[in-house]
Amino acid sequence: MKKILIVSSSLRQGSNSEILAQEAARGAQDAGHEVEFLSLKDKNINFCKGCLACQKIAKCVIKDDMADMIGKVQNADVLIFSTPIYYYEMSGQLKTFLDRCNPLFSQENKFVDVYLITTSYDDDKNVAQAAALGLQGWVRCFPQANFVKVLPCGGINEVKEINEHKELLAKAYELGKNI
Ligand SMILES: Cc1cc2nc3c(=O)[nH]c(=O)nc-3n(C[C@H](O)[C@H](O)[C@H](O)COP(=O)(O)O)c2cc1C
Repeated sequence: MKKILIVSSSLRQGSNSEILAQEAARGAQDAGHEVEFLSLKDKNINFCKGCLACQKIAKCVIKDDMADMIGKVQNADVLIFSTPIYYYEMSGQLKTFLDRCNPLFSQENKFVDVYLITTSYDDDKNVAQAAALGLQGWVRCFPQANFVKVLPCGGINEVKEINEHKELLAKAYELGKNI
């Protein structure tokens, strides 16, 4: 059994990427894993200031909701991030979340496998390429970690529209089930 942390970064109600992330959670639970689901909705997360104090004191000087969430990242075996594609990149809120995990850079971390789920209006096969590259850059900074894959779900724009795409929901479920 693995500890799986899912971080859903879309802030809108009825988010497509969040619905997919929930399907991945369901698959992982069905496979017997312990799953924790985090949504960044209603979370207070400030930008990283770049002071690098975290590299000396192993925690962030900014007092907000990240303190608790960084601990969850550190103690998970597997991370699944979900994001809407914004201007052919990951959402700003996911990027901010990753930046704020900087206290982990100088510490021992457990997480190995890292996955990404994206939704976008554009259905081009390369639509999630930049977002995946961005996350791969973060993963490369943690020697024990490995970027496994991205599940790009294109052609999705309206709230809850993903529910009409059973094949994509099934892919997200399988992603979780096959961890
Ligand atoms: C600020 C903004 C930028 C976006 N940029 C893109 C884009 O570059 N390419 C694209 O295909 N869709 C783009 N979209 C559409 C979203 O990716 C799409 O609606 C997605 O399904 C939203 O996911 P969510 O429901 O999980 O929030 C953008 C939407 C917003 C609000």
